[in-house]
Amino acid sequence: MAFAEVSKTCCVITGASRGFGRATAFALAHAFAESGCNSHFILLSRDEKKLQETRNGIMELDSYAKVHTVVADLGEMKTLEETVNNAFSKVEPNQVSHAILLNNAGSIGDISNRIKDMTNIRAESLQDYFNLNISSPMFLISKFLKRFEGSSCTVINVSSLMAVESFSHFSLYCTGKAARDMMCQVLAKEEVWFVIVLIFPSFVHC
Ligand SMILES: NC(=O)c1ccc[n+]([C@@H]2O[C@H](COP(=O)([O-])OP(=O)(O)OC[C@H]3O[C@@H](n4cnc5c(N)ncnc54)[C@H](OP(=O)(O)O)[C@@H]3O)[C@@H](O)[C@H]2O)c1
Repeated sequence: MAFAEVSKTCCVITGASRGFGRATAFALAHAFAESGCNSHFILLSRDEKKLQETRNGIMELDSYAKVHTVVADLGEMKTLEETVNNAFSKVEPNQVSHAILLNNAGSIGDISNRIKDMTNIRAESLQDYFNLNISSPMFLISKFLKRFEGSSCTVINVSSLMAVESFSHFSLYCTGKAARDMMCQVLAKEEVWFVIVLIFPSFVHC
């Protein structure tokens, strides 16, 4: 992706405290520094210390980057709207020519049970799983597109092989990833003017 012609880019990254989210933040910071692009980062996760580490890493790569951190549980529906409003308030949209949302935060969920044995678990834990892995990214996309409607927008969904191939015991993960893929396919039909990217990382340990 070329950034040279972009005056200001805002990257919203969920799950930026470690793993793929942090690695992508560093890769983007490197690309922005190389191209001389002004960048804003909004990083979200529940771990303040690790978010600060990601922030420091970005600043080392791109000393001009403006990096905002938001500590929040994205699976908590009661506070999700407040969390998202708080996150997006960090950057004035009229300063942004290109906005990128990396919907990366996610969890594998309980893989100790086959579906028929799920009577062992609390029914609420199913809802908790889908809150974090489906409802929250959908809500975030919606708020993101409204907030940055005057900018060129890119939504990136971190998908998986398990979105398209079934694996025993991974019913939560496979279902969540397949739903997120379909969410993006619907978006692509609805919003032809922005870019949606699905990433299928192979097994990574960052
Ligand atoms: N690793 C792989 O091999 C692989 C393969 C295919 C797809 N993927 C996908 O790639 C994405 C990242 O995977 P990863 O391996 O980098 O995972 P990871 O190391 O476990 O990181 C997950 C990230 O999500 C955040 N997160 C989890 N629950 C959260 C919550 N309730 N609220 C806010 N943030 C939350 C974590 O932040 P905190 O814990 O700090 O809150 C962390 O930053 C996931 O969507 C995963 O499904 C990974």
